[in-house]
Amino acid sequence: MTLLKKYADLFIRYALKLNAQKAISGLRRKSDIYQKMVGDVIKETLDNNLTTDEKFWIKKIELLRRQLESSSEELVLTDFGARKIPDPKVYDIEIEKGRNVVSTVGSKCKSGSEIYFWVLILFKLIRKFKPLSCIELGSCMGLSASFQASALFLNGSGKLVTMEGSESLAAIATKNFQTLGLHNISLKLGRFQDTLHAVLSESQPIDYAFLDGHLDGIATINYFKEIVPFCSSKALLIIDNIFWSPSMKKAWKFIEDDKRIKVSFNLRHFGICVIDNEVIEKQSFRIPLI
Ligand SMILES: C[S@@+](CC[C@H](N)C(=O)[O-])C[C@H]1O[C@@H](n2cnc3c(N)ncnc32)[C@H](O)[C@@H]1O
Repeated sequence: MTLLKKYADLFIRYALKLNAQKAISGLRRKSDIYQKMVGDVIKETLDNNLTTDEKFWIKKIELLRRQLESSSEELVLTDFGARKIPDPKVYDIEIEKGRNVVSTVGSKCKSGSEIYFWVLILFKLIRKFKPLSCIELGSCMGLSASFQASALFLNGSGKLVTMEGSESLAAIATKNFQTLGLHNISLKLGRFQDTLHAVLSESQPIDYAFLDGHLDGIATINYFKEIVPFCSSKALLIIDNIFWSPSMKKAWKFIEDDKRIKVSFNLRHFGICVIDNEVIEKQSFRIPLI
């Protein structure tokens, strides 16, 4: 872990202790399964509470992260990045097709991969919710996918399809899955706009989806609308970077308000949504982790 990431991690833990401890304790005391599940997930993540088997996988993936982060190998990737504030000088066509960017493996891994705290949240959610069919939009180098797939492996069942538009990143992620010996992940190369429908058709019913790419509010709403009809009667949707830009904030509000989302948890970075037809009353919670 680089010094900067270590400090970011420490900061998250400190901020949480001040701001959200009360909310978490409240959730954990509840008999409602989803409130208790999310409360326990956050508490166990903060305490880094792991079994021996969990430690084994997480150590392996974090070692790989360190190796990738220290690599100065040149990397030419296709950037599909949405802009925080849309730039009128950047033509839509360029965003549509992506633009080639030269970077290094190390720097892209640091800037593009979710930090330990948040991937551990995903890992813990999967360990508790036990989904079978999972999808991820945005593989980058495969670190979050590896956390999620190793949780499925430890559960004893389940598979993950991760999607990535940049060919060079997809190649690195695929190699990383092989290095780690994770055989329950498949990677779909292509723009989400072009691949999502086929992935949903092949993987339905979807129990779990993690949206971590194409941080544009309208695009996020469109992916949400496309995914929900393919979900199981009980499913989890996790949206990353819900406070990243004005358009992402609007998208989160839209998703949170959707009547098919029965319980939502706003963690300020992640938004966690529960689809469960048996939950009668809609509930939403704010746990400002950052
Ligand atoms: C934030 S990174 C994913 C990080 C990864 N989930 C992790 O934490 O290890 C987002 C990824 O989504 C990809 N991406 C963004 N927009 C896309 C689109 N429209 N179609 C396909 N891939 C896209 C980017 O190339 C990038 O690798």
